[in-house]
Amino acid sequence: MKVVAFNGSPRANGNTAQSIQLVLAELKKEGIETELIQLGGRKVFGCLACGKCWENKDNRCARQDDEMNTFIRKMQEADGIIIGSPTYFSNVSTEVKALIDRCGFVSKANGGEMLRGKVGAAVVSVRRAGSNFVYSAINFFFGVAEMVIPGSSYWNMTLALEPGDVQKDEEGIQTFQTLGKNMAKLLKQTRA
Ligand SMILES: Cc1cc2nc3c(=O)[nH]c(=O)nc-3n(C[C@H](O)[C@H](O)[C@H](O)COP(=O)(O)O)c2cc1C
Repeated sequence: MKVVAFNGSPRANGNTAQSIQLVLAELKKEGIETELIQLGGRKVFGCLACGKCWENKDNRCARQDDEMNTFIRKMQEADGIIIGSPTYFSNVSTEVKALIDRCGFVSKANGGEMLRGKVGAAVVSVRRAGSNFVYSAINFFFGVAEMVIPGSSYWNMTLALEPGDVQKDEEGIQTFQTLGKNMAKLLKQTRA
């Protein structure tokens, strides 16, 4: 059983990454394999709306000038997917939006089988406001992809500004640890 996580912040060890690690630690305790992919700051482009994925039906994006197909393959192969994003102007980071649009469209173009039934969890960091929108944007993607979503004791977010501030956010830490436990439980119930 494997979970792939994407850090959508360009800060490789910022609050989003550290929050994801809290979730991954709980998954590892339950014997679940994990992989963290640094997405933020990578060269990824938006969807071209060329429609070629609907013609080719090969589970891949026709756009070949970035690493998106590697990320799509990682999602296809995983049982669970974590998408972490900082809050940028009340929204997901640009890289996370590109991942959602292109992976989501490729999945739909191929009948939806690529993501259906996988377990998905959002991880959000925010200084002050806008995290609910980011949480929603990621969960809208999981929902329309027919994935299943574990809950936690609070919405999956940390109030943090400078890298590492998450470690001072006791409730945030608790929320991510509970999310990890619940995600592991759901994975075992649905993917074993
Ligand atoms: C371009 C940009 C836009 C941001 N927009 C918001 C915002 O809308 N609301 C907010 O509370 N924090 C905002 N922040 C702060 C980040 O969400 C916050 O510092 C977060 O912890 C960063 O996560 P990271 O350490 O993983 O990069 C913004 C930061 C940047 C760089």
